[in-house]
Amino acid sequence: MRVFITGGGGFLGRHLRTALTLAGHSVVAPNSRECDLLRDGALYPWNHERFDRIFHLAAWTQAGDFCLRHPGEQWVRNQRLNTGLLAWWAEQQPQAKLVSIGTSCAYSPELPLTEEHYLDGQPIESLYTYAMTKRMMLIGQRSLAKQYGLKHLTLIPSTLYGPGYHADGRQLHFIFDLIRKILLGGQEGEPVVLWGDGHQRRELIHVADFVRTALQLADTVDNEIVNLGSGAEHSIRDFAALICAEAGYDPAAIQYDTSKYVGARSKCLSIEKLRRLLPEFSPMPLAQGLPPVITWVRDTLLKKSA
Ligand SMILES: NC(=O)c1ccc[n+]([C@@H]2O[C@H](COP(=O)([O-])OP(=O)(O)OC[C@H]3O[C@@H](n4cnc5c(N)ncnc54)[C@H](OP(=O)(O)O)[C@@H]3O)[C@@H](O)[C@H]2O)c1
Repeated sequence: MRVFITGGGGFLGRHLRTALTLAGHSVVAPNSRECDLLRDGALYPWNHERFDRIFHLAAWTQAGDFCLRHPGEQWVRNQRLNTGLLAWWAEQQPQAKLVSIGTSCAYSPELPLTEEHYLDGQPIESLYTYAMTKRMMLIGQRSLAKQYGLKHLTLIPSTLYGPGYHADGRQLHFIFDLIRKILLGGQEGEPVVLWGDGHQRRELIHVADFVRTALQLADTVDNEIVNLGSGAEHSIRDFAALICAEAGYDPAAIQYDTSKYVGARSKCLSIEKLRRLLPEFSPMPLAQGLPPVITWVRDTLLKKSA
């Protein structure tokens, strides 16, 4: 199969590219310098090729309070890069099935996090623009598919974790930041201060589980939206306790700063649809997935920033 990936140099993109290549597929995955999706005609160099599948992962976003500080830029950039990609799909690659990645932030916190509610209600204020550009992408995708008879799939991940995150330390999603802070507390004696009261709850999915399952769904499911999480959430205090046990740090020494931004209190995707589609789905337990990530943060991220 010939596969095109946008955002192929990102965290998920690198794992997906490796998995596809190992499975024997031919993969084209330009980074943003080779293919800046904000530039008109960025995808034209690949017009003459025929792809069987397009994975659209590129997005302009970061973790923490980034969305709160860049709502206007996020709207312009993400609308532009999504629209450019969708137009190229319909005009130049109509034979390809498009697999796009949405966000759990697009769900309204007032409603169940089930796929039929993805476009209902209001996303939380702090992530509003990012969330709405992801919703618009789904609408654009469905509209083009309807008019031109195209195949597509949208996957909604919970927060991804795994080794090999951004080694330059940018975009630290909460779990990487938690590990970094606790390791630094143990190694350097720095105070460990976590944002919020620690009772906010989060769900993680290991990037290996996500990639393997995404590829299965891409092969078998058409024109659907599917949540892809682990189906279990934990409090920040639970995550911290697990990391402390691995890192040899006393969890009672952690301070909680309730003046800091924490986003939603709780966020756990319903994975009933996923379990119906793939009854054998069995996500990696945290106790298995987390230790290699702690090792990666210690050996890569902290060494680079030392
Ligand atoms: N990580 C998560 O927990 C999570 C959760 C839910 C949804 N998602 C979604 O999953 C997708 C992948 O996430 P990720 O964690 O892999 O993010 P990531 O590491 O930040 O990757 C995003 C990619 O988008 C590319 N990009 C940004 N602007 C671009 C542009 N103008 N032209 C071309 N490429 C551009 C970046 O390229 P450069 O690196 O070259 O700048 C980067 O490779 C995103 O759509 C994200 O919204 C992620």
